[in-house]
Amino acid sequence: MKIGFYDSGLGGLTILRATREMLPYYDYVYFGDTANLPYGDKSEEEIYTLAHDAIDKLFQDGASLIIVACNTISAEVLRKLQDTVFNNLYPDRRVLGVIIPTIEKLVESDIHNALLIGTRRTVASKKYERELEKKNFTIQLSALATPRLVPLIEAHEFQAAFSALQEIAHGNISNAEAVILGCTHYTVLKDMIREVYPHVTVLSQDEIIPEKIMSYLQRHNEIEAKLTRNGTIEIILSEGSERYERIKKLFFNV
Ligand code: DGL
Repeated sequence: MKIGFYDSGLGGLTILRATREMLPYYDYVYFGDTANLPYGDKSEEEIYTLAHDAIDKLFQDGASLIIVACNTISAEVLRKLQDTVFNNLYPDRRVLGVIIPTIEKLVESDIHNALLIGTRRTVASKKYERELEKKNFTIQLSALATPRLVPLIEAHEFQAAFSALQEIAHGNISNAEAVILGCTHYTVLKDMIREVYPHVTVLSQDEIIPEKIMSYLQRHNEIEAKLTRNGTIEIILSEGSERYERIKKLFFNV
C-alpha cells in the first residue's frame, strides 16, 4: 500500500518531494485537484464534498496513509471527515493534516511572536489559534489572508507572487519574529522571504512535515507494516495531461 498526498493543486508537491527525499523507499500517490483550485475561497460545504471524494479515491487507489498537504482542508473539514466518515469506512487506515504538525513545531521552537499567512479560509477558521490554545502555548499570533498568491504560484510566477506578498505584508513580515507559511503553495517562496527578511524565522511545511511523517510511522507500526517499498510515485492531477507532464518533470524529473 502507498502513502497518499492530496492538495487542491500543486503546492502539496513540495511536501511530497521533501518527504520522498527523506523516505525514498515507499510508494507514493499524489492527487492535485487542479480543476477545482483554489479551495481557499470556497465554502466549507464545497471543500467538504471535494475533500470527501478525493480522499476516498486515494484510499481506493491503495493508500493506507493519506497526508492532506493543504492547510485549507486541514483547517476546515478534515476533523469532521475523519470522525464521521473515514474512521468508519477505513478504520485501519489514517488521514493526517498539516496544521497540527506545524503547531507542534512552533511549540518546540522558542518563538513568541509570529505572523501566519494563508488562504482566506485558513485564516478565517482560526484553526491555528485554537490548536495553540489547546497546547497552552503563549504566543502573539497575527494572521493575514493572502489570496492573490496561489493563482500566481500555480502559474509558476514565483517572483510576481513574492512581489504581491510584499505589497500586502511587507510591514507585518518585517516586524515579525517568525512567519508561518500556512499554505503549502507558499513553500516555493521561502528562499525569497529568507533572503529579503534574514532576521525572520520562516516556518515552511516542506521542512516540517517529512520528519513528522517519519516519526508517525515509527510510532504506528500497524500502518507502516502495510506500506510497500518499491520507490514508485504516481501523480494524478484533475486538470489535464500536458500540465501533468510538465510538473512531473519539474518536480520529480520522471
Ligand atoms: N495549498 C492550499 C493550502 O495549503 C491552498 C490553495 C488553495 O487555495 O486552493 O491551503
